[in-house]
Amino acid sequence: MNFAASLPRIQAAIGSLRSQASEPVCAYVYDLDALAAHARHMREALPMGCEIYYAAKANADAPILKALAPWVHGFEAASGGELRWLRSQQASKPLLLGGPGKLDSELAEAIAEPGCTLHVESLGELRRLGAISQNMQRQVTLFLRMNIAVEGMGESRLVMGGKPTPFGMDESDLAQAVALLREYPLLTFEGFHFHLMSHQHDAALQLRLVDAYLDIAQRWEHEHGLTVRTVNAGGGFGVDYAQPENSFDWTSFCEGLRERLGRRPGAPVLRFEPGRFVSVACGWYVMEVLDIKRSHGEHFAVARGGTHHFRTPPAQGHDHPFQVIRGDNEPVLRNAHVTLVGQLCTPKDVLARQQPVNELAIGDCLAFPLAGAYAWNISHQNFLMHAPPRMMYLGSE
Ligand SMILES: Cc1ncc(COP(=O)(O)O)c(C=O)c1O
Repeated sequence: MNFAASLPRIQAAIGSLRSQASEPVCAYVYDLDALAAHARHMREALPMGCEIYYAAKANADAPILKALAPWVHGFEAASGGELRWLRSQQASKPLLLGGPGKLDSELAEAIAEPGCTLHVESLGELRRLGAISQNMQRQVTLFLRMNIAVEGMGESRLVMGGKPTPFGMDESDLAQAVALLREYPLLTFEGFHFHLMSHQHDAALQLRLVDAYLDIAQRWEHEHGLTVRTVNAGGGFGVDYAQPENSFDWTSFCEGLRERLGRRPGAPVLRFEPGRFVSVACGWYVMEVLDIKRSHGEHFAVARGGTHHFRTPPAQGHDHPFQVIRGDNEPVLRNAHVTLVGQLCTPKDVLARQQPVNELAIGDCLAFPLAGAYAWNISHQNFLMHAPPRMMYLGSE
């Protein structure tokens, strides 16, 4: 997970943000060239017979989608809103619609949308989809999302399967699902979808999960008389915010995939739908220090913005890494520890606690890397009605 290469561009961007406005800096800055290079590397490392769809829930900003489009096979939406947005931005890319609790209107929209495939989460949803496709007299291509337990799958901070969850169907539902597929001839079965966890850092474990998905898909194919064309093995490739070099090793994962697929001639197409791992490293959240104070023996730096723009630190429950971009003022702190907070009147508005800094002055900028995914779009931006951050996209838009 290499974000450091973007730092000089971010520093230059902060310089131009300072010169463009008299107010203190508060912005998201995205390095689109770094994003495209990373996505290209992901795509080129993948063996033949594998596909990559970007999970737009991570960050669906138009320039992000545009930078990714040449390197991904398609995009995954998790709501009717995302589906509409993706189609308006990407007229011809294949789309997937997944997620629990889909409305009838969303199912109908997806059926009507050329190039859209559905991930079905339950028997009830499959029944509704069958009836709606029948009414519309439109064929629909679908995956059955399955919730299976894989031996040794371990835990992560965000587990969606292998235990009771609202996601996907149990194996015991499969016979009924197959009966529904036969009852509604406009439903075209494409394959199985699995997304058991996010924040999964271990490439070797991910390879074992993929093996388990391919094995069980093959067994179900025979047991239920199905043809599995594609297995969607989900996303969830983990990012280590504290030690980015320990993030998911995509290159060795792809090498392992190549070896495994070589041993499985005739295997279905293998599809992945990552979000965080694709876009996290391209984004930075930048806040200018407004005040530095001491409270009951601890230092606090109050900066412009906060968790209403950048909810990632409290959502992850971590101290977010940061870089100090020095301005021209004399340091107030030298070789000290400081807690970085925003402008909200709640003690929860903390981005990092008691972090060491060499020097810190009012007017310096705090630049938080790894803010390109699940950052601005998961934040409670209207709380306290502060101004939104500036949005800056660097590179080939
Ligand atoms: C079904 C599904 N696919 C893909 C993703 C993307 O996960 P990540 O951003 O961890 O790669 C998610 C995340 O919640 C998901 O639920």
